[in-house]
Amino acid sequence: MRWCDGRDACKGKNDCKGKGFVDDSSADACLKKGGKVVEPKRCRVRSGEGPGTRAGPLIAHTARRRMEAGMACAVPYLGHGVGLRTKHFSRVLDGTAHVDWFEAISENFMIEGGHPLAVLERARQACPLVIHGVSLSLGSTDPLNEAYLEELARLARRFAPAWISGHLCWGSVGGHYAHDLLPLPLTEEALAHVASRVEAVQDRLGRQILVENVSSYLTYAHSTIPEWEFLAALAARADCGILLDVNNVYVSACNHGFDAATYITAIPPARVGQLHLAGHTDKGTHLLDTHVGPVPDPVWDLYRLALRHCGSVSTLVEWDEEVPELTVVVAEAERARTIATEVLGTNAESA
Ligand SMILES: [Fe+2]
Repeated sequence: MRWCDGRDACKGKNDCKGKGFVDDSSADACLKKGGKVVEPKRCRVRSGEGPGTRAGPLIAHTARRRMEAGMACAVPYLGHGVGLRTKHFSRVLDGTAHVDWFEAISENFMIEGGHPLAVLERARQACPLVIHGVSLSLGSTDPLNEAYLEELARLARRFAPAWISGHLCWGSVGGHYAHDLLPLPLTEEALAHVASRVEAVQDRLGRQILVENVSSYLTYAHSTIPEWEFLAALAARADCGILLDVNNVYVSACNHGFDAATYITAIPPARVGQLHLAGHTDKGTHLLDTHVGPVPDPVWDLYRLALRHCGSVSTLVEWDEEVPELTVVVAEAERARTIATEVLGTNAESA
């Protein structure tokens, strides 16, 4: 299979169906005819280089570069993506959702078939995909949910995501799920517990995962480790990557009174495989991580710091309440790209 991104020039010509995978014979035929009827620059059919190539050479190459550069989190650089949300499914299906990459919430697709999986299949054909879980419950004392892990592994086999991520939290007790991302006591005991579970999940999935910091509204009196040290230690002990949610850092910093910059700069850059950006809501007594509205200015400022600290990292905008048209969310991702270029210059688009 090869990837053709000659949509603009080729649609409707040479049997070209636009951006997507094509088999080798179709690709050769397209190039052959394309040389006569379209500009080669606009009808590039590049063996194995497509953004949607399943574990293709581009992804393997950037991952290898990160490994060779001593990066402890060997995931590819994907650019600036957006979360895949129901409101935008029609744009995915009609092929007008032009994004660098999508992040899909795994639990929304743990089904046997139907419309959502068809959308995910189409999204995967169009661009790279990342799977983000909200029910791994890495910090719970319940046994790891084997049925859930099997479903997650099945999704990974089918859609070959660039990576899989979960949260530094707990969300279940006694088999009952809170459907929330609850903070952990930050102790040596909890650190050892979560690290062993992250290792178990990675062993089960056969790949490194990324663990994301959550927003929180309480702390535990018996916590002994700052969250940024806990997250860094977890990554080292479990040999996992970090999904650094910049908005979550800001929200928790405001709620608990710690310095957000201290948090960001304490995270080992080599472990950071992805950044999250989102909006939040000021409830007067605290900030609430609502993922509503554009990314606020203080979060953009913290994003600049994260880029200076980590270098070029795949970045995703989350928007989950009052979800606007896709163009609005994509505009936020484009703003992230512009800021990355301002901060990192010509190095902004390479890992
Ligand atoms: Fe997030």
